[in-house]
Amino acid sequence: MCGIIGYSGAREAAPILVEGLRKLEYRGYDSAGIAVLDPTRQPSTQLTRCVGKIAALAECVDNDKISGTSGIGHTRWATHGVPSEANAHPQRVGHICVVHNGIIENHQLLRDRLIADGREFRSDTDTETIAHLVDRAYAKSGDLHQAVRTTVAELEGAWAICVTHDEHPLDIVVARHLSPLLIGLADSTHPNRTDQPEIFVASDVAPLLAYTRVVVDLEDGDTAYLNAEHYEILDIDGKEGRRPKRQIDWSPLAAEKQGFKHFMLKEIFEQPRSIRDTLMGRLPAGSETIDLNGLEPAMAAASRITLLACGTSWHAGLAGKYLIEQLAKVPVEVDLASEFRYRNPIVRPGDVAIAISQSGETVDTLAAMTEAKRLGANSVAVCNVIGSTIARSADHVLYTHAGPEISVASTKAFTSQLTMLTLLATRLGEVTGALTADRVTALVEGLRALPVVIDSVLDQRAALKTIARRYLHARDFLYLGRGLGFPVALEGALKLKEISYVHAEGYAAGEMKHGPIALIDEHVPVVLMALRGGTYEKAISNLEVVRSRGGRVIAVATAGDDQIGDLADDVILVPDVDEMLQPIVASVPLQLLAYYIADLRGTDVDQPRNLAKSVTVE
Ligand code: AGP
Repeated sequence: MCGIIGYSGAREAAPILVEGLRKLEYRGYDSAGIAVLDPTRQPSTQLTRCVGKIAALAECVDNDKISGTSGIGHTRWATHGVPSEANAHPQRVGHICVVHNGIIENHQLLRDRLIADGREFRSDTDTETIAHLVDRAYAKSGDLHQAVRTTVAELEGAWAICVTHDEHPLDIVVARHLSPLLIGLADSTHPNRTDQPEIFVASDVAPLLAYTRVVVDLEDGDTAYLNAEHYEILDIDGKEGRRPKRQIDWSPLAAEKQGFKHFMLKEIFEQPRSIRDTLMGRLPAGSETIDLNGLEPAMAAASRITLLACGTSWHAGLAGKYLIEQLAKVPVEVDLASEFRYRNPIVRPGDVAIAISQSGETVDTLAAMTEAKRLGANSVAVCNVIGSTIARSADHVLYTHAGPEISVASTKAFTSQLTMLTLLATRLGEVTGALTADRVTALVEGLRALPVVIDSVLDQRAALKTIARRYLHARDFLYLGRGLGFPVALEGALKLKEISYVHAEGYAAGEMKHGPIALIDEHVPVVLMALRGGTYEKAISNLEVVRSRGGRVIAVATAGDDQIGDLADDVILVPDVDEMLQPIVASVPLQLLAYYIADLRGTDVDQPRNLAKSVTVE
């Protein structure tokens, strides 16, 4: 997820773009750049880009003494190509500059065709492909808006783009499909108004609020020609797009959280999109074949796969073990990275070690992967941060593309890890022959449907807040699960304890009778995974054991279960999905339960005490 901004008007553009990018930094921050156009210069475009946060860009811009009253800017969360000046946006080709937020699924095919046509590329980005296409289309039409429309007609995937041309220094052409983009209009009531015409465009409202509270939301398929004097929107069919104006009443800080009270809640609600982005590029539109960058033969042939991770990522790894062994019949070990490196592990050449890490900087996970490589394993990283240390150290990397996760408590990164591991297990099952073609198709269809399914779970936020209020004062929780429900229970307990400071313990449900049952009384709520499937009856037995000892049970069950309501004190129903997809779907209500209990208890949800987003020390 990246941040893009554009301006055209009477004010100096550079400060507006740089300050606007600061407000978008939460969307991505590995590199940044601006292009400012000055009609008195030839060429009119002045381009400044650099690696690092916006502060580094601001310094570069000051040094360049840039002038001009229109331009575009971008803060990058790399999806294609490591963070570098060459891969930073704006991407420039001839007179054209482009900034882009999204993932172009067919960029490699388009790039290959352009190279075959004699075009040279200077970056690894999918965005440069867009710039070349616009440059080529403009050479034919001489009309920038039409050139952008011709270009986006060739694209597959997601994009929000701003495009400028040296010979039209006051114009910006934009396009939006599946990535957010909105126009900011001159606001005569704003305290920081100017009596000159002006227009803005950005990924979200955060950078606009300093100048205007009047916005126009673009819709998927829209393109627009922007100029301080007027703007024109064309819809996906090329007809005039009449989009209503909207008044924004958020504070700037609220805008960075897009109206959510905490980044954690925003990121929980981003999961339909983040899961879609994890799938995008791995599961190209219209294709049934999962693309794992050609890693599947080595993984399928491995005598053993070892998953290495910490914390939430280790819970994803535990689910990954169940998934890969059930779907691909490849033996899997899952190790706490902090234990692996000290237990003199047995690793044979040909083994595959998969390091799972959102940040890609967790020192225990990096050290464990390094040890596994030293012992002869092929290493694969499942990471969310492009170019992170673990990603760069591994032999291969599968990026989860969940976008920046600001809140210390991992939510969307976790479900993206689960999605990636499910993709991997399914593909390995196809390659090893453990899965029939029909079974693969069913899993692929289930994965594609996840964003809509997660949306329906998120609609239960009010019910979950009610349950949170009911158990607000409990001091101890037990989370129980069996099979794929076990890692979900562990993760649910971790979410609660790390943001609410309430003691919560995840346990294998079958272990209850071996000790934890001594804890059960009316003061210790039990969250029980009781989803449809092979372990359901056992879950009901657990439930009855807890209730018979005066315990209270919050059951997570499958929609359509008409008996659990008579047995549990509270029931959270999740949509009926393939058993292999249940961990992804069932984790979301437990994230919300933890969030609402913590919020009601008044803890610092996004920055819980004693915790860091990335544990880079032992
Ligand atoms: C999860 O909510 C915690 N923030 C923590 O357990 C985290 O998952 C762990 O530190 C691993 O981080 P990584 O995924 O960045 O390696």
